[in-house]
Amino acid sequence: MCVDFVRTGAGKGAVAAVLAAFALAGAGCEERSALKRPAHGAGGGGETEVILCDGSTPGAVAAAATGQVLADSLMDQWKRAHPERDWVEVEKEQHELKPPADNSALLKGGQGPEHPYGRVTKQELLLWARETEKFVVEGSRIFHSAELLGSTVAVSCDMCHPHAANTHPETYPKYQTQLGRAVLLRDMIEWCIENPVRGAHLSGDDPRMRALEAYIIAQRSGTVMVYGKH
Ligand code: HEC
Repeated sequence: MCVDFVRTGAGKGAVAAVLAAFALAGAGCEERSALKRPAHGAGGGGETEVILCDGSTPGAVAAAATGQVLADSLMDQWKRAHPERDWVEVEKEQHELKPPADNSALLKGGQGPEHPYGRVTKQELLLWARETEKFVVEGSRIFHSAELLGSTVAVSCDMCHPHAANTHPETYPKYQTQLGRAVLLRDMIEWCIENPVRGAHLSGDDPRMRALEAYIIAQRSGTVMVYGKH
């Protein structure tokens, strides 16, 4: 079992509190919780030591930080520790959600009404597009809302992943060092919910988890799938 601790620089640098046991199935003890636990006794001033999102690099944030300030501070430190990672994968994307695939070709030619599987109507295409978009928009809403994520530190996903940047759904399943095993996209979403976001645990079949997954995958539309890629 791994122990996650937080030290406060406001004191004498001593371990202030062992705040939580962080056990990950199959993970070694180097796999520690990534981020800040509430700093008991830090009194609003001083700094809280944290383990960054790679699960190993130590860092420090202002004990009172929450929300964007906290997210920015964590990301800055993570970027400095990983200069080789191009986190800011030039954000050319618009804030608008990507539209679902255009299926209008199904109404023509071999896939048209004469085709054995081709009895597709315009209404059906509209229904497919509308329902799919609704699913994705719901995910976007949750992704952008610290409240809906149940964050205790006012952090939402977009603070570090604007427009779902650097979520790489097309690389799953893959081995994740933080978890010490090969995982699905939802396992990494859950990891970020529990760690940087400090939100409520979501099971794999929770409607919010399904919507988050839908949104993240939708934003990478057109990307080639290469599972296992780092
Ligand atoms: C404080 C910044 C921060 C916040 C907030 C955050 N993440 Fe992350 N996330 C990271 C970092 C850093 C990594 C990369 C960890 C690594 O690769 O070592 C990461 C990795 C991921 C990955 C895996 C990316 C890959 O390349 O495989 C996914 C998926 C993800 N985050 C989703 C989310 C979701 C969903 C939320 C909101 C619930 C969220 N993150 C909130 C910083 C953050």
